[in-house]
Amino acid sequence: MNVVAHGIDMVDCARLREMLDRHGQKFLDRIFTTVEQDYCRDKKRAVEHLAGRFAAKEAVLKVLGTGWRDGITWTDIEIRNSPSGQPTVRLTGRCRKIADELGLATVLVSITHIGTHAIASAIGSSQPSGGAKGIGD
Ligand SMILES: CC(C)(COP(=O)(O)OP(=O)(O)OC[C@H]1O[C@@H](n2cnc3c(N)ncnc32)[C@H](O)[C@@H]1OP(=O)(O)O)[C@@H](O)C(=O)NCCC(=O)NCCS
Repeated sequence: MNVVAHGIDMVDCARLREMLDRHGQKFLDRIFTTVEQDYCRDKKRAVEHLAGRFAAKEAVLKVLGTGWRDGITWTDIEIRNSPSGQPTVRLTGRCRKIADELGLATVLVSITHIGTHAIASAIGSSQPSGGAKGIGD
């Protein structure tokens, strides 16, 4: 695998809970796609799963190397889980364009969370991934 870039991020679950309490559905809709909201809503510890996705988006952004600018929106990066639970990355909009410019065929992500924190790591590769879905699939 030809690794182009790596990114990592950690999120404080209490901080995310605070944002959720303060801004409710508006916050959810700004940050998370419908697929992501549906996945987390069904979980017993929904905030942890949301925090995991928040961290994953930040980690992917570090792979892209641009920061939150140039018209990038949070929902340009979507985390979907395969039937086995493995998270996959789907890029759309500006993020997709940047990934194409960088020659990224795949972004792999791994997520972990406990009650207090969520951590995600992302790796961008110029080679299509075998099992996991590719960018924008
Ligand atoms: C993957 C696994 C080891 C995670 O361990 P854990 O310490 O309990 O939980 P962590 O907080 O470290 O990780 C949770 C994250 O692991 C990821 N994950 C889950 N299943 C995964 C898998 N098969 N491969 C890679 N990552 C996986 C998810 O991103 C999950 O977070 P999310 O649900 O918010 O997306 C555990 O969930 C497991 O053994 N899963 C088996 C999957 C399984 O049996 N699925 C049955 C259907 S085939």
